[in-house]
Amino acid sequence: MPEIRIAPDGATLEVVSAGESPFAIHPLWLRERCADLASLDQQTEQRLYNPSELDPEARILHIETTGLEEFEVTFSDGSQSRFTGAAILAELPGQLADVPKQEPWSSTSPTPKPIDWASCQTEAGHLAALHDYLVYGYVILTNLPCRAGAVLDVARRFGFPRETNFGTAFDVRSVPQANDLAYTSLPLDPHTDNPYRAPVPGIQLLHCITNQTTGGLSTLVDGLAVSEALRSASPEEFNILTTTQVRFRYVDAQAELVAMAPLIELRQGGEFAAIHYSPRLDFVPLLRSDRLEKFYAARRLLDRMFRSDIYERRFKLDDGHLMMFDNCRLLHGRTGFDPSAGLRHLQGCYIDADGPRSLYRILRRRLS
Ligand code: OGA
Ligand code: ZN
Repeated sequence: MPEIRIAPDGATLEVVSAGESPFAIHPLWLRERCADLASLDQQTEQRLYNPSELDPEARILHIETTGLEEFEVTFSDGSQSRFTGAAILAELPGQLADVPKQEPWSSTSPTPKPIDWASCQTEAGHLAALHDYLVYGYVILTNLPCRAGAVLDVARRFGFPRETNFGTAFDVRSVPQANDLAYTSLPLDPHTDNPYRAPVPGIQLLHCITNQTTGGLSTLVDGLAVSEALRSASPEEFNILTTTQVRFRYVDAQAELVAMAPLIELRQGGEFAAIHYSPRLDFVPLLRSDRLEKFYAARRLLDRMFRSDIYERRFKLDDGHLMMFDNCRLLHGRTGFDPSAGLRHLQGCYIDADGPRSLYRILRRRLS
């Protein structure tokens, strides 16, 4: 565990980690985090000045220890502020631990327990649902009213409904002349929704109003778990899928949406960022055949993993149940169904990815 200490010169704070040489914290890095009245608006916690206007030569004049890993720092421009070691360490790269860590899962991992929608009306119950969603990428809520629009009440409890050309809430049921295969009774292989949109909807909610047919089972796969398994078992295939930009397109009478993304998107440091996967909508550009040969082999492998029962969870979403899932991490789908055997009607909507994270931080702050 790294720690913060005063360097021997008495005017530098440094980061010390086992097995690494200590490094001095840049004085401007600390200066622009000063929380004194002149630097920070105490109401909004926003800066009252532009940090690029700070004296580039600003130095630390004096550091005093005011508690365990707590320091009072005086700068050459006269400002003074208190810093805790914990707050400084939380800003090391890759340390964003203010929401629970994602746990990759396969079909045999323990499942998050369904949560009663009524319990989400209490702060503690709401926090439990947010926790499971953030860890597993999904949560199933039960005992919702089986009526149209209920999905929007849930959406508003976790974020802000995102309107698209499909509406604020959209009906998922088999209709004639459907403008999307979701609105037929055909099976849907594991996919992420709307990869043709920029930005892609972060979170999807699907609420089962009624499911009286045969078939029509829901499926979920953890794209994070599959990506990490592919990365370690087949690095070349992983590499081609993370570096080939694919075009996704949706078209109907009112919309023509096009976006480019790799099937597996990584962050700058190489960690998993998102899956963009919809076998009915992806168009790889006309690349040289040797590259395409490799791309197709890699995509076949990825597809086999997504559909394997090692990773896929399959279950019936019952009347009054709702699943909320991370549309950048999980893939979802359904088995085909017989529309003449009974009604199947889901209602869906999207919210942005940042809603649950923000709520989690607020509730943690309030309940601790
Ligand atoms: C969708 C979808 C799944 C289902 O509407 O995007 O994938 O269970 N629906 O019908
Ligand atoms: Zn879908």
